[in-house]
Amino acid sequence: MISRPDRGSTSATSAAPPVGSDAPPHLRRPSPTGPLVTTRVPAVPVTLRALGRAFGDRPVLAGIDLDVAAGEVVALLGASGSGKSTLLRLVAGLDRPTAGEVLVDGTRVDGIENRAAVVFQEPRLLPWRTVAENVAFGLPDGTARAAGREEVARALDSVGLTAFAGHRPREVSGGMAQRTALARALVRRPGVLLLDEPFAALDALTRLRMQDLVDDLQRTSGATVLLVTHDVDEALQLADRAVVLSNDPAGAGIGHVLDVPGDRPRDRADPVLAALRVELLDRLGVPRHAPA
Ligand SMILES: Nc1ncnc2c1ncn2[C@@H]1O[C@H](COP(=O)(O)OP(=O)(O)O)[C@@H](O)[C@H]1O
Ligand SMILES: [Mg+2]
Repeated sequence: MISRPDRGSTSATSAAPPVGSDAPPHLRRPSPTGPLVTTRVPAVPVTLRALGRAFGDRPVLAGIDLDVAAGEVVALLGASGSGKSTLLRLVAGLDRPTAGEVLVDGTRVDGIENRAAVVFQEPRLLPWRTVAENVAFGLPDGTARAAGREEVARALDSVGLTAFAGHRPREVSGGMAQRTALARALVRRPGVLLLDEPFAALDALTRLRMQDLVDDLQRTSGATVLLVTHDVDEALQLADRAVVLSNDPAGAGIGHVLDVPGDRPRDRADPVLAALRVELLDRLGVPRHAPA
């Protein structure tokens, strides 16, 4: 069992610090005394216990034990087809395990998990709805109209899309569409944010900006995050721990866990991260080219 007892629950109600002029442009606020960019969420721990999923007689995941602390960011890496998306779907309650269980804040996930929100690789927006209307789809059922409008406005603001609220998805860039999907997840005030390769389809520069945005949003909201990624640098930039799924025909388990040192936001040029990059690539079975 992997646990992080040192990372206790984050205080759910304390106010986020205002985002000042040193913030990246997409988060910079017109007035430093304006409403907070992101409200803190009641971050929750996630526990996977002997978790397994087989499709027919084909085991995909087997014997997964993992404790993710409230407010922790865990990156999930592994070969294509190793079961990363399956694992996220089990946490979201979009699929059911064939063995073991998922606990969110100590209670078993059984059906769609309201405390979780998912962002997929594709934004999955309704093309005939505006950006704001798409975001509003994320609101929990029963949200009052005025409160919902406020929540949508806040989420759009936090991803830098206020000016595009009335645009249709085809009128915005790929990065903006993915920010819309992120805002749609944020209006749920998720205690657990599940990100399934959310930047994989974006160009390299947009991807870096999105990483910074998610980093900022996580630090201000305090949400627990499970991030599936193919990108070793992304894992090292954003995660407290990187978990590599094993390649096992009997079902992928946890192959390796790497603690990523250093407070976030991290310096992309940090030589410590460069050394860990080599280690992670090695764990993923990607050989390092021999020096010339
Ligand atoms: N609903 C399903 N029915 C049958 N097989 C599935 C289903 N969902 C996923 N799989 C299989 O499980 C394996 C893991 O898939 P996935 O979790 O999407 O991998 P990853 O996200 O790591 O690339 C794949 O071989 C995939 O074909
Ligand atoms: Mg996947």
